[in-house]
Amino acid sequence: MSDLRYDGRVVVVTGAGAGLGKAYALLFASKGAKVVVNDLGGGRHGDGSSSKAADDVVEEIKKNGGTAVADYNSVVDGDKVIKTALDNFGRVDVLINNAGILRDKSFARISDVDWDLVHAVHLKGSFKTTQAAFPIFKKQNYGRIIMTASNSGLYGNFGQANYSAAKMGIVGLSSTVAIEGRKNNIHCNVIVPTAASRLTEDILPPELYAELKPELIAPVVAWLCHENCTETGSMIESGAGWAGKCQIVRADGKLMRQTIADGVSVEKVRDSWDKITDMNSMQHMGSIQEATGALMSSLEGLRSGAKGSSSDDSDVYEY
Ligand code: NAI
Repeated sequence: MSDLRYDGRVVVVTGAGAGLGKAYALLFASKGAKVVVNDLGGGRHGDGSSSKAADDVVEEIKKNGGTAVADYNSVVDGDKVIKTALDNFGRVDVLINNAGILRDKSFARISDVDWDLVHAVHLKGSFKTTQAAFPIFKKQNYGRIIMTASNSGLYGNFGQANYSAAKMGIVGLSSTVAIEGRKNNIHCNVIVPTAASRLTEDILPPELYAELKPELIAPVVAWLCHENCTETGSMIESGAGWAGKCQIVRADGKLMRQTIADGVSVEKVRDSWDKITDMNSMQHMGSIQEATGALMSSLEGLRSGAKGSSSDDSDVYEY
């Protein structure tokens, strides 16, 4: 099988001055892409700025014979980041939304600043860069976008309510961008990484930290951004050389009405709870149409007067 290359492609990686973003930038450049190394160069909590982080990565890429340019804008000014790609390379093909900060506090102690800054960098930043690149992708009928979520968003994590909320917002953003981009060959996927970086140095256990090299995740991101990859609208979790697709699932559930005239009482909900929360026959819905379609067919069943068994445990209209 031939090597996968990115010659002629322009790749923008946000937050590429360190950690995962740096690993992505180095890999893309080593495979022929021209890379915009965006990094504000600030502190872990979103404080300060410096050109050094981006400059060092650009220097490393150039030393290895690759092509790259530094960009020091905050992702909140996403149009400026994309403009750097256009000004220097005349196009943009791939956008990796990776920049991130943490302002961890237990929920009761989160200030408006902690909330707003985290949302600005993660969620608004991903919106701004993607919105600037999207019309270009549409015009050229090609684009690959990566959004970065976190297990903290998917499952929650003590002290990270602001970050969890922003990361789950990114999942919703990605799902809709994937739908709107599909007809123009614009793919959008979410990476859910676990890697050693300054964001995780005091969070991950030391023995785990040493094994979680960002370089082990970069190839997963690079494949998702290759022209041969057809994946879109997905969430891929990755770390330590492992990768797997993540999906939102729901229980088969229970229709708590026997006829269209029936209401639903709190007691009925209580008595149905085992069924409502039984995940043994869970399903993944491929789209909003599929999810609401299942609801509608239950309703149609009730409307047409078809009745299930007279038993309260009827499974006939379950969805
Ligand atoms: P990192 O701190 O090593 O890298 C993040 C980079 O983003 C830094 O170089 C920082 O200067 C830059 N940055 C921060 N705010 C910026 C802004 N406004 N504009 C441009 N650049 C900015 O962290 P790491 O771990 O490499 O994180 C990368 C992404 O992966 C983040 O979105 C993070 O939330 C996410 N993530 C990381 C996990 C991990 O295990 N390392 C776990 C889950 C998610």
